[in-house]
Amino acid sequence: MNHFITTQDWSLDALQEIVDHARELKDDPIQPLLAGKTIALIFFNPSLRTRTSFEVGTWQMGGHAVVLEPGKGAWEMAFGDGEVMDGAAEEHVREAARVLSRYCDLIAVRAFPKFEDWQVDRQDATIRAFAKHATVPVINMETITHPCQELAHVMALQERLGDLRGKKYVLTWTYHPRPLNTAVANSSAIIATKFGMDVTMLCPDERYLLDERYMGWASENAAASGGSFNVSYDIDAAYAGAEVVYAKSWGALPFFGSWDDEKPIRDANKHFIVDERKMALTNDALFSHCLPARRNVKATDGVMDSPNSLIIEEAENRLHVQKSLMASLVGASAPTGAAT
Ligand code: CP
Repeated sequence: MNHFITTQDWSLDALQEIVDHARELKDDPIQPLLAGKTIALIFFNPSLRTRTSFEVGTWQMGGHAVVLEPGKGAWEMAFGDGEVMDGAAEEHVREAARVLSRYCDLIAVRAFPKFEDWQVDRQDATIRAFAKHATVPVINMETITHPCQELAHVMALQERLGDLRGKKYVLTWTYHPRPLNTAVANSSAIIATKFGMDVTMLCPDERYLLDERYMGWASENAAASGGSFNVSYDIDAAYAGAEVVYAKSWGALPFFGSWDDEKPIRDANKHFIVDERKMALTNDALFSHCLPARRNVKATDGVMDSPNSLIIEEAENRLHVQKSLMASLVGASAPTGAAT
């Protein structure tokens, strides 16, 4: 069974095939590759881009998408093995995943961390439970990684830069008033290294390092691809000569569950905003962000709206890469080398 839970389970060639087919679908969007097929889109958290692009993409390929929001129109769900279900949850994933597999050809899940205990959240238990019990492929719509965003990001970068190998790529932490998910930062680190870029992760200090799993994968990917992966706490040095600047805010893992203690550290680092002065240090770098992004907090209007900004292209590409991915997973266009 092919699932799409993390790009780390997929070969570089298989991911490139998804992106290449997405480029064809961008040029010729209405193709019946999902005719007669259905996908369940399960959202435990809000969305604008993900929900719209999956629904529209499924329709453009002749399929049907069913949106389910557990706790809001669908039963609250339990996940624990052996759990005594005497709380709010009316349904267990063991039944939900198998029943949905009888109705649908694909199941996609968005399930953010609970932000209380990283040792629990890092297990990615919700989507792993769906993958365990479903009998159809499961797609990650953002949990503790965001692999669909990764594909859209790579596609947008390749459209502007061509071959990404050796390109100087900066993943920069930015301020946000609340501690956010590390998913996109994890994803940025693993996909940029997988495609051979020279990656610098810029953050305030060692407390903002990502989980060792993703730091490790980034280093392994860099070794395999001929790229590199480094950490910097020096803003000007990191930006110098960069060809890509990718911005994201995330909460410091040592403060999971005690966020009030992180707030003064976070508030002292508002100067990590991506602005014109920092971008002037780069090699005419492209800028992007997964969106949504708070303007003039994470990046200035001037950066967000500059000709070098990929934010809208990357968001558009969510539609194309997800169509390509869904077609691949139902066997309508199957890349070789995907995980089984
Ligand atoms: N980038 C992204 O996943 O956007 P949404 O949260 O709006 O789906």
